[in-house]
Amino acid sequence: MDDQRLYIDGAWVEAQDGETFATIDPATGEEIARVARARAGDADRAIAAARRAFDEGRWSAVPPRERAALLRRIAHRLHTEADELARLESRDAGKLLADAREDVEEAAEMFDHYAGLATSEGGEVPPPGPDAMSLVVPEPVGVAALITPWNFPLLMAAQKVAPALAAGCTAILKPAEQTPLSALELARIAAEEGLPDGVLNVLTGFGPEAGAPLVEDPRVDAVSFTGSEAVGRVIGRVAAETFKRTTLELGGKSPNLVFADADFEAAIEGSALGVFFHQGQVCSAGSRVLVEQTIYDTAVEALCAQAAELRLGHPADPETTMGPLISAEHRAKVNSYLEHGRADGARLAHMGTVPTDPKLANGFFFPPVIFADVDNTMRIAREEIFGPVMAVIPFGDEDEAIAIANDTPYGLAAAVWTTDVKRAVRVSRAIRAGVVWVNDSQPAPVEAPWGGFKASGVGRELGRYGLRAFQELKQIYLNLE
Ligand code: NAI
Ligand code: MG
Repeated sequence: MDDQRLYIDGAWVEAQDGETFATIDPATGEEIARVARARAGDADRAIAAARRAFDEGRWSAVPPRERAALLRRIAHRLHTEADELARLESRDAGKLLADAREDVEEAAEMFDHYAGLATSEGGEVPPPGPDAMSLVVPEPVGVAALITPWNFPLLMAAQKVAPALAAGCTAILKPAEQTPLSALELARIAAEEGLPDGVLNVLTGFGPEAGAPLVEDPRVDAVSFTGSEAVGRVIGRVAAETFKRTTLELGGKSPNLVFADADFEAAIEGSALGVFFHQGQVCSAGSRVLVEQTIYDTAVEALCAQAAELRLGHPADPETTMGPLISAEHRAKVNSYLEHGRADGARLAHMGTVPTDPKLANGFFFPPVIFADVDNTMRIAREEIFGPVMAVIPFGDEDEAIAIANDTPYGLAAAVWTTDVKRAVRVSRAIRAGVVWVNDSQPAPVEAPWGGFKASGVGRELGRYGLRAFQELKQIYLNLE
C-alpha cells in the first residue's frame, strides 16, 4: 500500500518533518503501510484550518438540510465501499472480516442517523410570560478534536464525526496509531462527496505528539475521546484548562450476572461472547461473570466448553472465530494477568491454544482464558485486561450479586441473565452503570445513549445525546412589550 498522508484543509500532505511510522497487520506482524507521523506543527496547521473553516461558516452556515444530505451521501458511500473498507479495517485492526463488515455498516448507520437528527433536533420552551418569548437555538460548539482508539477504528470515528458534522462543527480526527487507515478513507469519501475544505481534518500519529496538542489548544472548543482511563484522566484535566466541552468514553470491568432462573444456554453463550468478542478488546466487555452458587459448577463447565469451541486463526478466514490482539505490547500486558490470576489464587479453568499456521507465527495471538473461583478483590477482577480473559465469580443471592457488581471503580455496562422480569428491572436499576443489558450482551443501538458512570467516563455518545456534545444551546429572549 502507498504511503499515507495527513488530510489538512482539503489537501493530502506529508508531516512537516517528513516523518512516517508503520501500521502493522496484527495477524502476521507485517507492515501494511507507512503513515505520516504528525507532531505539534502539523496539529497547529490542522487546528488553524478547522478554526478558519468554522469561523468563515463554511459548514455551520450550510442549512441543516444540506448538511444532512451530505451525511447521507457519506453513508451511501460507506455501504457501496463496504467490502474494501472491511478488508482494510480487518487487516489494520486484526478484526474478523465479518465483524469489520458489520462495523462498516454500523458506521454508515451512524451517518444516516445523524443526518436525521441534523434536521429534527431543535429546542423549545414555553413563553416565559404574555409579553415575552424565549427561543432555544442549538449552535455548533465550534472546532472539535476527536481522538479514537484501535478496537473499532472506523466505527468510533463515525460515532464522533457524524454528530460533529451534523451539529455544524468542524473537526480534527486523530485515529489511534495502531489503526490509522480507515479514518483516512473516511476523509477521502467525505471530500469526494463535497465536504468543504478544512471541515474534517485527519492527523495520524501518536497520542502525545499528535493528540495532546489538540487537547491543549484554546482554538479547539470540544474534545471527544475514547480510550484508556489513564489518558482520559489527563485529557479531562488538560481540557478543563481551556473549558473545552469534554466527552470521555473510558474503560470498564463490566459485570455479567447469571441467575439460576436464567435461560441457561442463552446465558452461557451470551456471557462467553461478552468477553471473547473481538478478543475481549471491547470497552464494554463483560469480563466479570458472576454466577449464582446453585448453578455455579455446571456454568463454569459450560463456559469452558463454549470457550473450547473458539477457533483462533486469520481474521479473513471464515472459519475463524477469534483473531489476534492488536500488538505485541498489548499481548504482553494481557499475558501478565495470567500470572496475577495464578498468584492471587484463582483457578485456571480453561486455556485455549494459539494457531500453529506458520504464516501466523508472527501474529499477536493470545488464547481464550477462563479463571474460576475468582474473588472480586483480585487484580483480574479489578483491572481492565482488554483481552480474552474471563473471571468467574460465584454469588449466593441477589443482594450479594449487586454488591459485587457495583464493587468496582468502573460503571460502563452490565448484563443481567434472568427470566424473572421483576428481578431484571430491580437489578438493572441497582447497578451503577450507563448501559444494562437484560438477557443479552453488547448490543449498542445507534439511537440509545452510550457512556459510563464513575471512572468509565463523562458524557454520552450516540443518539440525540451524542449530538448534544457538539452543540451549545443558546437562548434568545424576546421582549415583546
Ligand atoms: P490510549 O488511551 O493510549 O489511546 C487511545 C487514543 O488516545 C489513541 O488515539 C492515542 O493516540 C490517543 N492518546 C494517547 N495519549 C494521548 C495524549 N496524551 N493526548 C491525546 N491523545 C492521546 O489507549 P492504548 O494505549 O491504545 O490502550 C491501552 C488500554 O486502554 C487498553 O489496554 C484498554 O484497557 C484501554 N482502551 C480502552 C478503549 C475503549 O474502548 N474504552 C479503547 C482502547 C484502549
Ligand atoms: Mg495496524
